[in-house]
Amino acid sequence: MNSDICDPKLAPEGRRRIEWSERSMPVLRSIRERFEREKPLDGRTIGACLHVTTETANLMRTLKAGGARVLLCASNPLSTQDSVAASLVGDFGVEVFAIHGEDRKTYYDHIRSVLAPACHVTMDDGADLVTLLHTDEASKARSVLAGTEETTTGVIRLRSMEKDGILKYPIVAVNDALTKHLFDNRYGTGQSTLDGVLRATNMLLAGSTVVVAGYGWCGRGVAHRAQGMGSHVIVTEVDPLRALEAAMDGYRVLPMAQAAPQGDLFITVTGDRSVLRREHFEVMKDGAILANAGHFDVEIDLVALDDLSVSREEARANVEGFRLKDGRNIFIVAEGRLVNLSAAEGHPAAVMDMSFANQALSVEHVVRHHASLERKVYPVPQEIDREVARLKLETLGVPIDRLTPEQERYLSSWEQGT
Ligand code: NAI
Repeated sequence: MNSDICDPKLAPEGRRRIEWSERSMPVLRSIRERFEREKPLDGRTIGACLHVTTETANLMRTLKAGGARVLLCASNPLSTQDSVAASLVGDFGVEVFAIHGEDRKTYYDHIRSVLAPACHVTMDDGADLVTLLHTDEASKARSVLAGTEETTTGVIRLRSMEKDGILKYPIVAVNDALTKHLFDNRYGTGQSTLDGVLRATNMLLAGSTVVVAGYGWCGRGVAHRAQGMGSHVIVTEVDPLRALEAAMDGYRVLPMAQAAPQGDLFITVTGDRSVLRREHFEVMKDGAILANAGHFDVEIDLVALDDLSVSREEARANVEGFRLKDGRNIFIVAEGRLVNLSAAEGHPAAVMDMSFANQALSVEHVVRHHASLERKVYPVPQEIDREVARLKLETLGVPIDRLTPEQERYLSSWEQGT
């Protein structure tokens, strides 16, 4: 079995952590138990490019239980948990190629290692693996039947490939399942982003002004949690509907040029580039802290910040201080990479339970139905989405009402009115 990890001796710690998160993933566990019996992925090779965390480890275990050969690399150079990688290799027979802090070349070499055998299914988080299959490693795409994509940014890239007519195989947009983005993006990113900022800085949120750039599913979660911790929250947006929603949710909405001099903490979560840039750095307060929770490290223009600076040095673990020519300091958390995965542990397992249940069931779906799928980006089938919600409620012990026959008739008819 091939692998490239930091240290195999970390496996016992990794195993304990994987088992701890598994306790909060009952939906995925029930799928794993069924997969063990039914082996729906028998004989299939799955190449996954995901954050190498404890929750991902439980997804990999589920796919193995289904009978698949599983290869895994990281979808971000800073999100790998080395002990988890070691346990996946040592305890669970997953071929892992991921080392925390790997450089860009190693990051791409590791994706190539995952693609080395002929994969039948790809699983991506941000579409770096799929993009490689459409560029330098195009010959490796021939064996691929279908794939899945985890995050908003990846789905945007795939839709643009579909639009350009170059997408080589069908891919299910797991991010777009309601049981994914309504919960993972909102509550998962909301909590874990602040967790990352707090672990890195230990700043007091109460009374601070927190500027949240982007009021999408993730931004709503971050803004809501920051407000709950007593921060004054300012939202910046480019979409009038989202800006209106933020205003009616009770936040101040401002253009970044006006928010920049006011913020103590800035969190970008737009999926867009250069959201914080030179003109904003020029007017920020001394001591402003900047973090990003969007998928790629392009939301804060670090090249421009470096250009404005006379020196940079590590202020604390995961915090770098930039000293500007006029004497002000601006602090960047986790190199402007996904702060919740780089400076904390990513989303809590209880929310990843739903995202990864969607992943596992979507893989099963594409293995069964790939022959009838076109080279398109598909939504997660509604039955899967609803089943994940039903199972999650059941495991939370939350009962709900059922429609009576009279209500079913009423809701499907048009005759009854005033
Ligand atoms: P979304 O599409 O729901 O929201 C993004 C929002 O940003 C939109 O409302 C858009 O109008 C706004 N926006 C775009 N450019 C902007 C600009 N220049 N200034 C202000 N606002 C701007 O997307 P979602 O689901 O909230 O995801 C956002 C990013 O977070 C993506 O890159 C996604 O992949 C990533 N993500 C990160 C997670 C994590 O664990 N940190 C988890 C899930 C998603």
